[in-house]
Amino acid sequence: MARFTLPRDLYHGKGALEALKDFQGERAIICVGGGSMKRNGFLDRAVSYLKEAGMEVKIFEGIEPDPSVDTVMKGAEVMIEFQPDWIIAMGGGSPIDAAKAMWIKYEYPDTTFEDMCKVFGLPKLRTKAHFCAISSTSGTATEVTAFSIITDYNKGIKYPIADFEITPDVAIVDPDLAETMPQKLVAHTGMDAMTHSVEAYVSTANCDYTDPLALHSIKMIQRDLVGSYNGDMEKRASMHNAQCLAGMAFSNALLGIVHSMAHKTGAAFADYGAHIIHGAANAMYLPKVIAFNAKDETAKKRYGEIADFMNLGGSSDDEKVKLLIDYLRGMNDDLKIPHCIKNYGPDSYPTDQGFVPEEVFLERLSDIAANALLDACTGSNPRQPSQEEMEKLLKCCYYDTEVDF
Ligand SMILES: NC(=O)c1ccc[n+]([C@@H]2O[C@H](COP(=O)([O-])OP(=O)(O)OC[C@H]3O[C@@H](n4cnc5c(N)ncnc54)[C@H](O)[C@@H]3O)[C@@H](O)[C@H]2O)c1
Ligand SMILES: [Zn+2]
Repeated sequence: MARFTLPRDLYHGKGALEALKDFQGERAIICVGGGSMKRNGFLDRAVSYLKEAGMEVKIFEGIEPDPSVDTVMKGAEVMIEFQPDWIIAMGGGSPIDAAKAMWIKYEYPDTTFEDMCKVFGLPKLRTKAHFCAISSTSGTATEVTAFSIITDYNKGIKYPIADFEITPDVAIVDPDLAETMPQKLVAHTGMDAMTHSVEAYVSTANCDYTDPLALHSIKMIQRDLVGSYNGDMEKRASMHNAQCLAGMAFSNALLGIVHSMAHKTGAAFADYGAHIIHGAANAMYLPKVIAFNAKDETAKKRYGEIADFMNLGGSSDDEKVKLLIDYLRGMNDDLKIPHCIKNYGPDSYPTDQGFVPEEVFLERLSDIAANALLDACTGSNPRQPSQEEMEKLLKCCYYDTEVDF
C-alpha cells in the first residue's frame, strides 16, 4: 500500500492571499522570516485579512534562513503561551519549515528534536492548531510537502523531518509574493524545484500519481525558469505553480541522493564563512548523480523518458542521459550557478577559488559521505551507493570531474 497526501485546500493565482479572510478560528500566529514579507506589505495584508476573519493575531518574526533547532524551540514557546488554533507560515522554505517543527513541539511540548526526526514517526497533530503555508519563493514547495528541514548548528548538519502529519492543511500559492525575489533566489529555488521533479521521477517510490506531476513540472521549469530569472513576471508566476507541482510529486515519491548530499554539505563549511545554498548545491550535484544513477537500467530508462518529455533528442537511452546532463549544466550557466564546490564562491557565484579549501573538503569528506548515506533521502534513490562510491561522487562534485563508476 502507498499513500498520496496533499493539503486539503490550495488557493492559487494572483490575489490568493485573500483566502485568509474566510478562515475560521480564534487566534492565529503568523510566522515569518527576516523582513521581506513585512517590507513588501504582505505581512500587513495577512494580518488585516485574519482580523477581518475575526481572529486575534500574533506575529513571530525573525526566522533565519536555514532555521536552527533553537529558533524552533523559541517559536514553540511563544505558541504554547499564545495557544493559536491557526499557524500561518509565510515566506520562503525557512520560515515555513521552522513553523512546521514549532507546530509539532506546540502540540507535544515534551517532544525532543531527536523525536521529530524519526522518519514517519510523528504523533497525530491538529489537536491544537491547523496549519496554513504561504510560499514566497518558488522552489521548496514546503507549502504542500510532508517535510521540514532544520539545521543542527552544533553538528553542522541539516535534518529532514518527514511525516504526512506536517503536510499543511491549506496552501496559498500567490504569485504576487514571488515577484520581489532577487535574481539569485530565483535561480537557486528554481533549480531546487527542478531537482525535486527529477529525483521524484526516478525515485524508487515513484508511482502513477506522482509521475505526471513530476514530468509536467519539469517541462514548465524548462520553459520558464531562465525567463523568470531574467525578469519575465508571467514566467515568474508560472514557476510558482511549477515548483508547487514538483513538491506534490516529491512529497509523495520522495527524493534521492542529490538531496542527501545537499543536506550534508550545506552547513558543513559554515566555519569558513558561507553556506552552500540548498538550491545551488542541488544544481551542482544533480548532473553528477544522474550519471551515477544511470548505471541502473531502470533509472537510465526513466532519465531517457524525462529527456524525451523535454524534447532533447537522442536515439539511445545513453545518449538521452547525456543530453539531459548537458541541458541541466547549460541551465546552471544561464543562471550563474557554478558546476562544482571548488568553484563555488562565498556569494554563490562561480569563481576560480571557491570558499571551501580543498584540504578542508578532503579532511571532512569521509564524515560528510557517511552522513549523506544516513540521510532520509538516500533510501529512495534508485542506486544505493557504498561509502566509497559516495566519497567518489562527492569528489566529482568538488572537482567537476566525470562520474565513471
Ligand atoms: N520542506 C521542504 O520540503 C524543503 C524542500 C527543499 C528545501 N527546503 C529547505 O528550505 C530552505 C530554503 O528555503 P528557500 O530557498 O525558500 O529560501 P529561504 O526561506 O531560506 O529564504 C532565503 C532569503 O530570501 C528572502 N526572501 C524570501 N522570499 C522573498 C521574496 N519573495 N522576495 C524577496 N526576498 C525573499 C528571505 O528573507 C531570505 O533572506 C532550506 O533550509 C532548505 O533546506 C525545504
Ligand atoms: Zn530541495
